[in-house]
Amino acid sequence: MQLKEVERAKRRPELVVLEGFHAVKHAVRFGAELLGAWTADPLELETLTARLAPDVRIAAEVVGAEELKAVVPRAQIVAVARRPDQPDPDSVLAGSGHVVLLEDPRHLGNLGAAVRVAAAAGAAGLMTTGRQDPWHHDALRGSAGLHFALPVHHLRTVRTQGRELIALTPDGDDLNPLELRAAAVLAFGTERDGLSDDLLARADRRVALPMAAGVSSLNLATAVAATLYGLKLAAAAQRTPPPADPDR
Ligand SMILES: C[S@@+](CC[C@H](N)C(=O)[O-])C[C@H]1O[C@@H](n2cnc3c(N)ncnc32)[C@H](O)[C@@H]1O
Repeated sequence: MQLKEVERAKRRPELVVLEGFHAVKHAVRFGAELLGAWTADPLELETLTARLAPDVRIAAEVVGAEELKAVVPRAQIVAVARRPDQPDPDSVLAGSGHVVLLEDPRHLGNLGAAVRVAAAAGAAGLMTTGRQDPWHHDALRGSAGLHFALPVHHLRTVRTQGRELIALTPDGDDLNPLELRAAAVLAFGTERDGLSDDLLARADRRVALPMAAGVSSLNLATAVAATLYGLKLAAAAQRTPPPADPDR
């Protein structure tokens, strides 16, 4: 594959384009099959790899700076990988860990940031509905390539496979992480309008992250992060045995 084919690769559903060192690093670390990678600064790539990802090997072809800039104006490296085969969404829903559902997210940076925090928090998968392809190169840039660390699906219709469907909405009841015992589907709405009436009607519960007076809502990706880590830290605290009684 050649650098001039990167633009076309963005429109090929079986391929994904990775822009920037962190996106390429994570993709390779989590098993991406690279079909090509290009840099104008091999020394910088070597230095970054040695410093930040000594476990990863990135074989990049060296190209001219102007040539690279014409394809990716903001990155020192670009790569094309095969879009991985994903497990069936129903098998993801049958597994352990919460599943994040983004209903029609609009901003690809938010979508990517949600994938990134879902991967970090150990979610079972992330699903989206609506117009955006979650594997768009801008979303992959936002996730720093962590799409490769968990299943990321684009669904036509919402599926839950019998899991509890929890709607995250600023006007819900305050989230009590201790009430959420089993792995659920955690649903988040669009940036401007929030969750649809259909999803709210279908949800088993509507919960809110408490906010100070006067604040309308959190940013979408921030809400995903706060929810997943609120649940994760509460679960960890429950597993930690209480300190030994010094009088016994
Ligand atoms: C920017 S907000 C949308 C705001 C929208 N006006 C609303 O009322 O939902 C995007 C999504 O983040 C989640 N969100 C933001 N703040 C939240 C909060 N305090 N509690 C629960 N979810 C929240 C919701 O899922 C929301 O649909």
